[in-house]
Amino acid sequence: MICPTYHVPVLLNEAVDGLLPTEDGIFVDVTFGGGGHSREVLRRIGQGGRLYSFDQDADAEANVPEGERRLTFVRSNFRYLTNWMRYYDVLGKVDGILADLGVSSHHFDAEERGFSFRFDAPLDMRMNGRGGATAADVLNSYSEEELARLLFVYGELKNARKLAAAIVKNRQRADYGSIASLLDVVRPFLPREREKKEMAKVFQALRIEVNHEMDALEEMLNGAVKTLKPGGRLVVLTYHSLEDRMVKNFMKSGNVEGKVETDFYGNRLCPMRTVGKMIVPGEKEQAENPRSRSAKLRIAEKC
Ligand SMILES: C[S@@+](CC[C@H](N)C(=O)[O-])C[C@H]1O[C@@H](n2cnc3c(N)ncnc32)[C@H](O)[C@@H]1O
Repeated sequence: MICPTYHVPVLLNEAVDGLLPTEDGIFVDVTFGGGGHSREVLRRIGQGGRLYSFDQDADAEANVPEGERRLTFVRSNFRYLTNWMRYYDVLGKVDGILADLGVSSHHFDAEERGFSFRFDAPLDMRMNGRGGATAADVLNSYSEEELARLLFVYGELKNARKLAAAIVKNRQRADYGSIASLLDVVRPFLPREREKKEMAKVFQALRIEVNHEMDALEEMLNGAVKTLKPGGRLVVLTYHSLEDRMVKNFMKSGNVEGKVETDFYGNRLCPMRTVGKMIVPGEKEQAENPRSRSAKLRIAEKC
């Protein structure tokens, strides 16, 4: 079934062009979501082509096109990319990998998932609802120092320390359970004119922590090098500066720190090389799809 309201794909043509789809190529979409990018890949490859699409969220599976024998849906975190590729016997044989990072519009619209402060719902925020700590667990159990760190690093909030102190102080009165309980505590610390933007940063920080997004991204990038064949493409769409920096560094140097390594003779060692310049959505797409405004598309090729 195709669900148009689930998610509108960002930079659809540019991202799929970056993969250089071929008739009988093997491709991987590590973030299936509403399946917009995956369907475009399927449209461009031939009957001999293959697509492996990952998503850790059970809701995404409902968007898998029926009877499409070229597509294999993998209900898993993309951090296990190499294990699955080995399982399907395509490790080192893949022509292109696409990653469209973060959450889908569906996550923000599904009230009960707790991703959006537009609703009052349990503070969950897990993309994979099967297990693991929720945002409420993080708020109720992390130390003030740990909360300050994640609000500063993942939310880029200047007053992270003050926010963390207020969150912990309030915990003595009652546990965090609902979105409203968090908003009540945080709101007085946010400048009124930027309240929504700052609140979005608080939610982004919690979401990244709950879903271990940075660790999963690093593992997936390392796995991508093993998964691709020489000349194979890695195409990544990022939505915030932290993940974009990691991807940019990785494409330049082969590690997320961006440290260029050399061999004994001083030759640059790098498993990937950057292809072209970073691409951002044009004015029309940004106007039609507000989510696309922070998007950055980067492409690299395995050496
Ligand atoms: C931005 S959406 C992708 C949208 C998709 N490109 C489309 O056209 O509809 C990101 C998707 O990736 C999934 N996701 C995020 N991190 C993941 C991870 N570490 N492993 C597997 N899936 C992940 C989310 O559940 C979400 O459905």
